[in-house]
This record gives sequence, C-alpha cells and structure tokens, in this order.
Amino acid sequence: MRPVQERFYATEYPDLLVGLGTPDDAAVYRLDDERALVVTTDFFTPIVDDPYHYGAIAAANALSDVYAMGGTPVLALNIAALPPNLPLEMSTEIMRGLADKVFEAGAVIAGGHTIQDKEPKVGLAVIGMAHPDRLMTKTGARVGDVLILTKPLGTGTITTAAKNDKAEAVYVEEAVASMMRLNRAAAQAALKAQAKAATDVTGFGLPGHALEMADASQVTFLIEMERLPFLTGAKVYGEQWIFPGGTSDNKLAFEKSVRYEGSPTDEMKMLVFDTQTSGGLLIAVAPDQLSVFRAEMARQDSLWWQIGAVIEREAASLVFKA
Ligand code: CO
Ligand code: CO
Repeated sequence: MRPVQERFYATEYPDLLVGLGTPDDAAVYRLDDERALVVTTDFFTPIVDDPYHYGAIAAANALSDVYAMGGTPVLALNIAALPPNLPLEMSTEIMRGLADKVFEAGAVIAGGHTIQDKEPKVGLAVIGMAHPDRLMTKTGARVGDVLILTKPLGTGTITTAAKNDKAEAVYVEEAVASMMRLNRAAAQAALKAQAKAATDVTGFGLPGHALEMADASQVTFLIEMERLPFLTGAKVYGEQWIFPGGTSDNKLAFEKSVRYEGSPTDEMKMLVFDTQTSGGLLIAVAPDQLSVFRAEMARQDSLWWQIGAVIEREAASLVFKA
C-alpha cells in the first residue's frame, strides 16, 4: 500500500491545488478557471473567560486560514463540544460570538454539529472562494519582498497571565480585541498588492509559521526585532517570564532554524516565540507594490508593521536581527 500522503495528492487530483502534498493554511480545490474552493477547519479550548469572546475569537481564528490563502469566506459550519452541565446562557453566548464573527466576515452559518465533552471546544469549518491564479501560499515569497505583519504579538503570555489571575484587565482587553479582529482587511490589501505568499500567525508563533514560508519558498526571512509589534501587556508579562507551555515548545522546536544577529535579550528571545491565537497575517509583498498595500490598509483603517525582508537562502531559515 502506498503511504497516505501519496494516495491523496499528485496527478490523480489535478484540481486539488493545495492539499496534503503541499501543507498550507487551507485546502484549495479548483472548480473552473476562475473559481476555487478554500476549505479549512479550526477549533480550540477556551482561551478567555468570557463565553462571547471565546466564540468570536474561535471564529476569527478559523476564518483566518481562508484569508491567509487569499480567499473570501462564504459558508461556515459550527463545531462544538460542550459539557452537558454548561449553563444554557454560556453556550448561547459562545454561539452568538461565533455567529457574529461569521456575519461580520460576510459569510453565513449554514449548520454545524455539537457533541458533549468535559472540556469545551468550539470552532468552525469554513468554505471560502478564491481565484485559482491569485492564491497566497507558503511557496510564493521572493528575494527582495518586504515582510509585513498585521497584528501585534503576545497573546500567549497575556492569556496565560489572565488564567493565573495575574493580568490587568486593560491588557487582557487589548489582547481580546486583537484576537477578535478579522484578517479580512489584511487579505484584501495583500491581494490588491498582488502578494503571492501569506500565512496566519497562530500556535507555532511567528518563527514557526515564518520558517514554514521561508522553507517552502526556498528563501530566508530577515526579521528586525526592533520592528516587531507587541501588545502592551506582552512585555510586562514577558519580563515576569509568564509564558504558556506552547511558547517554550516553539523555542525548543524552531530556534535551531534561527540565526541571531546582534545580541537580543533573553526575554526578547522568548517573546518572539510566543504562541499566538488568532494572530495576524504574515505577508510577503513586492517592494514596488508596498504603496498599494499601504493605501488599502489606510483606507480600511487597519494596522500593519513592516518587520523585515526576504533574502537569499542561507543555512538558517530565519535571521532575527537585534
Ligand atoms: Co493558518
Ligand atoms: Co489553522
């Protein structure tokens, strides 16, 4: 028997433009020359206390994988595993959070499935549409491209501080607002700027997702640490060394692909690996298209940061310059 991956890609499925053979943020299936389906699913355990925020963040995070491919969400299905003893008001609020975000994205919830489980897990299966020639994959970064990040980092350390009752409300609110924000404006601006490469920054942190793109594109990403945006609370809790297990795991897994230039502080060398929930898009934009990207983000009143550039491939996938 052939290995699983071989059975599901290659020449037998020419319309499966992105599948297991080329792991990316979502699967892409070509319907015809102008339309492709973008299909993805994501769900997770509670990241914040408030049930409405939990639902909205889970939805924004699931929708994000469609945006990261250059797609527009059209349909979503709820996925929920909820404890049988969860008060009805709570489950209603979670579902309202999911529904509001899907509506904001211009898509519709067309169904779903709920089961009982001790620990809550919610999210979405999402179907989006894209133009088959205008996909943003992990393979499309080119030497000379400018690297852009569209949300600040630090949700891992802040939500961990909140779980330990150590976080100030104002910092948690900032993190929640960021995690709830859709990556729609970023995706639209990237498409207008004819970007060919993007991904969304989530559990593996900036380095984990950046190196996937760099490796797939056979280039190296030079990231200037001083340009990296952080949520206000991130530096506060980072200084207190409050990090989730995922952040240490990321550092352990990905630091071997990093070369440091200059001498960043230990705290900074930990913060950059922070595991993210519903993070921003990391986009590679050709320098002559940067003004198009800038104009569209300004028109949509959306924040972004230029964090580095794509350089010739070297031994390290990522160079972090202090
Ligand atoms: Co993703
Ligand atoms: Co995902």
